[in-house]
Order: sequence, then C-alpha cells, then structure tokens
Amino acid sequence: MSLLIPPLPRSSSVNDSGHLEVAGCDVIELAGEFGTPLYIYDEQELRDRCRAYMDAFSSRCENFEVIYASKAFSCVAICQLVAREGLSLDAASGGELYTALAAWFPPEKIFLHGNANTAAELDFAIRSEVGHIVIDSLDEMVKVAGIAARQGRRQPVLLRITPGIEAHTHDFIQTGRLDSKFGFPLAGGTALDAVAAAQTAADIELVGVHAHIGSQIFALKPYRRTVAVLADFLAAAREKHGFDCRLLDLGGGLGAVYGPGDDPPAIDQLAEAVVSSVAAEMERRGLPLPRIAVEPGRSIVANAGLTAYEIEAVKTVFDVRNFVAVNGGMSDNLRPMLYGAGYQALIADRPLAEPTMTAAVAGKHCESGDILVKAAPLPEPRPGDILVTPATGAYGYSMASNYNGQPRPAVIFVKAGEARVVIKREAYEDLVHLQEKLE
Ligand code: LLP
Repeated sequence: MSLLIPPLPRSSSVNDSGHLEVAGCDVIELAGEFGTPLYIYDEQELRDRCRAYMDAFSSRCENFEVIYASKAFSCVAICQLVAREGLSLDAASGGELYTALAAWFPPEKIFLHGNANTAAELDFAIRSEVGHIVIDSLDEMVKVAGIAARQGRRQPVLLRITPGIEAHTHDFIQTGRLDSKFGFPLAGGTALDAVAAAQTAADIELVGVHAHIGSQIFALKPYRRTVAVLADFLAAAREKHGFDCRLLDLGGGLGAVYGPGDDPPAIDQLAEAVVSSVAAEMERRGLPLPRIAVEPGRSIVANAGLTAYEIEAVKTVFDVRNFVAVNGGMSDNLRPMLYGAGYQALIADRPLAEPTMTAAVAGKHCESGDILVKAAPLPEPRPGDILVTPATGAYGYSMASNYNGQPRPAVIFVKAGEARVVIKREAYEDLVHLQEKLE
C-alpha cells in the first residue's frame, strides 16, 4: 500500500508486516541494523529530482547549468551522485570544496561562494582550478586577483548582486533583500562600480552575475522580478562599461513539502518561469542571451530524506501536554529551534494506525526549546517505538552538531531493497580524538 504522506519519498509504502518501507527497505529493520538516530535517503528520489531539474531546463534552453547547493547536504556520496547526474556544484566554503574534490567532482564545474572566504580558502579554490568564484565584496575581489596573479592564473568570476527582492520566507533565510550581508547592492551604484573594478582587475575574468533571493520559496513571482531587476542592471552595465553577461545565475530557493499546507511550485514550473523571463527581459533590452544557471539545494534533497529515532520516554503533564522524548533532537535537526520549522511524525511499525494522543516530540538535549515537533498526533507511542520525521533531507545533517556530547548520526542511502552507509555514525572516541590532555 502506498503511503500518502506527501513529505515522504515517493517510494514509501506500508509493507506486509504493516511497517513503513522506503525504497523497498523496512524502516524498523534499518533502525535495528544501523541504529538510531538514523538519516535515511532514498537514492532514486535524489536522482529523480536531479533529473527533473536537468530535464526541465534542457527541454527549454540549450545553454544552462544546474548547480547543486551542497550546503543543503554535503558528503562524498551526494557529490558523486550529483556529478553523475550532470549537475554542477556550489561549495560555500573550503570544507565543502574539499568534500566535493574528495568525490572527484570536476573542479571546472564547481562554484565557490561565501561572504567571508579566507585567503587560504581562496588559494585552495584557485589552486584546485574551480570553474568560478562568486565574488561577494571588493575586498574579496582584491584577494582573488592577488592570489590568481601569484598562481599565474586568470580566475573566472561572477559578481553576487543583491537585487533588493523580498521573498516571503523566514527572516534568517532571506538573502536577496537590500539589508543583507551578501553581495553588491544595486543601490548607490555599488554593483555597477564592482563591474568596472572586475573588468579592470588583471587576473580575473568577469563572466557573469549571481543573485540568490532566499530559501523555502513558494512563489515564482520573486524569481521573475529578480530577472527583470538584473536585466535592468545588465543593460546599465553594458551601456556604462560595455559588459556582456555570459552567465546569469539565479540562485536556489525553491521550497520543499514539510507538511500538508506546503505546496511549492514544481521544478518544471520554476524552469518555465526562469527561462521564459530571462528570454523576454533580455530581448526587451536588446541584450544577448546568457547561459542560465540555478542553484537548488533543498528542493533536491529535503523530501528524499527522513530521520528515524527511538522513543525513550512518554510522559503527560496533566492538563498541559504530552511529551514523547526521542534519542536525538537539536543536534541532528536544528531547524525547529532555529526557524520554528514544522515537521510531522509517524511511528514506523504502525504508520497508518489511528492516533490516540497528540504529543510534543521532544529531543534529548538540555534545552526546553529542543522540541522537534510541536503537536504530533500519534498512535499510543511507547518507549522502544521507532519514530520517523519525514522531510529532513535538507539542512539537517549539514547543520548537525555534537551538543551535549551527542555523536552525529549515521546516514544511509536506500535503493531497491538495499541500504548502504554513506556517513558512518560517530563514536564516542570521535568526540575526543582532536583533544589534548593537560599535563
Ligand atoms: N545558492 C546560494 C548562494 C545560497 O545561499 C543558498 C542557500 C542556495 C543556493 C540554496 O538554496 P535552497 O535551494 O536550498 O533553498 N539553513 C536554512 C537554509 C539556508 C539557505 C542558505 N542559502 C534552512 O535550514 O532552512
């Protein structure tokens, strides 16, 4: 029987034992074999979402690039997977770059981002021959040019522009509006001046511009407005500085489904909006058509992932609330605490059973706010049950910590009834292996 909880991977079903199954794997058995908390990704769902992006763009334009934003979930296996699906990769730091290179990701298909890259990170990126560095400030431009000169290279770059667009999403994950630490603002001619500076810098090659307006976006209008605003900017940059943009990178941001009310546009609709508005806005201003890029993270990985926990305790605070405490929490999924993000919960050996109580799913950390799900309807939850939160594939493991000495969970990929570990569970020894004893 297929299980119609939309945030779960499409391969999810209830098997003959009545258990939740993902990609042919029984979640109770996975929890027994690999332990909990456990991050489970449906490999085919990851591939299908990469392909949905590639197909949506290739059917509409010839000159495009889909860049996986690895900050959403970065490990060697996902870098290998997206490389094989033909995507490029956004690395937001030296560490994400290192991970991609450890997966033999083609460096020419890597974009290095960041608003505070160190000289060491830039040196590493340029030495690794990354395809593009997305320049965030004049200070970074000077650093990149200097390092490229010392290495005898000419580094292709994009300029990150802050378009001043307000996308309706959580304040902390909104990045394109004017009051932002990211990029060159259009206001006051700052971005135009940056074009001139990049053109005159000897050891960098200005290829194009980039903008990212936010994350968990459910509307297409902000993307169309961004294209129009950038097109105005490119018209001015052409007129004033003779700059022809060859690569227009519109960032990521497409939303994922976390609960019943979430209805993000389809990947295909995003591609249609982006490709048609770039064509129209460029033509209207007599500008040449650039290569179009997008940088999805969440919309590729969020709904391909889920987390399995074990219930450790169930308690009722009379007349107030029921609590179901699990063996993970803010150390493996910080999003509820950081953004008030909502998740759902189900019990893996009876996912379709009638709920008997509503409970807050509490994490194991020493913080009252460590609540993974505020009010989950659950069927007689008991210690030892395996509780699953769907849609944890994006910004879950990548924001995990060792708070309270909690080892980070294992991550597995499941496919056609087979499971394999892609990130091992940390052991207690890992918590201290970088530490030195006092004399
Ligand atoms: N490109 C750039 C330059 C970005 O800053 C981001 C995300 C992306 C692409 C990918 O955006 P996505 O398609 O995943 O929405 N930790 C937050 C999300 C932070 C997003 C930061 N930038 C969360 O858990 O919701």
